[in-house]
Amino acid sequence: MPSPEELKERILRLKEERNAVILAHNYQIPDIQDIADFLGDSLALAIKAREIEEDVIVFCGVDFMAETAAILNPDKTVIIPDTKAKCPLAGMVDAEGLRKMKEEHPDAAVVSYVNTTAETKALSDYCCTSANAVEVVKAVPNKKVIFTPDRNLGAYVRSQVKDKEIILWPGFCATHDALRVEDFMQLKKEHPEAEILAHPECRPEVLEIADHVFSTGGMVKHVRSSSKKEFIVGTEKDMAYRLKKENPDKIFYTLDRAICPTMKKITLENLLEALENMAPVVKVPEELAEKARVPIERMIEIGRGERTG
Ligand code: 13P
Repeated sequence: MPSPEELKERILRLKEERNAVILAHNYQIPDIQDIADFLGDSLALAIKAREIEEDVIVFCGVDFMAETAAILNPDKTVIIPDTKAKCPLAGMVDAEGLRKMKEEHPDAAVVSYVNTTAETKALSDYCCTSANAVEVVKAVPNKKVIFTPDRNLGAYVRSQVKDKEIILWPGFCATHDALRVEDFMQLKKEHPEAEILAHPECRPEVLEIADHVFSTGGMVKHVRSSSKKEFIVGTEKDMAYRLKKENPDKIFYTLDRAICPTMKKITLENLLEALENMAPVVKVPEELAEKARVPIERMIEIGRGERTG
């Protein structure tokens, strides 16, 4: 079996030959984070995907992220190293149910988290990510908003945007929703100086005890400029790898159960294989892509969030 170093060398060589760029989400395993050309949160990745000059985008993240890159770049080849990297949250909206909700609230705008399928995006007026959800909902002209699919992020937005009626879709991220106040309090007891950072996909009671609520990109930016030395990282564990790499003098505590199994599907082995075979390709039918592109472009127009690169 080739060593990680050998695999990385082969990936980098093949990447040049294929004129490819590797985009990776902040939750990817450390080896993938290290080899990526660009690492970011879902907003930064969506913005970056529009600026790519190479012919091929290899997306190390989950399905909806690669799909978003494909929607924004119909002329490029977008590859995801493992098609089993499917975000369960994105699968929680069914088109029929959403159509019905829209009929029940004809005056509402649909704001969908970017963690959705192309079909859901095509039925939405605006997209948002955790970095710009508040900004996007504030910018929507309608007084009423249907927010899909993450109920925790939606409830957080509701707490920040008081003058709008926000109807929540009952979806959730199993990884963030499983984090408990007790998990955080135990770490806080052991490390009283540590600041609690929580992702807005965490439950409302967790957000209440957090010192700050941030997208993963927001966490990167905050930690860089904070005078604090210790942080409890209330999101996927491998986020702490990036934070530590960029801030070696600071200390990060993670929660044992904060693991996103689908983000871990991408490995050096399947990344190399994907570059060798130039597959699996992520393709969105143009008619669907055209509709799904509208809410994504609107989002990028409104809110660039805490872009961290
Ligand atoms: P970010 O917007 O912080 O990248 O979060 C993405 C995500 O899917 C969290 O589960």
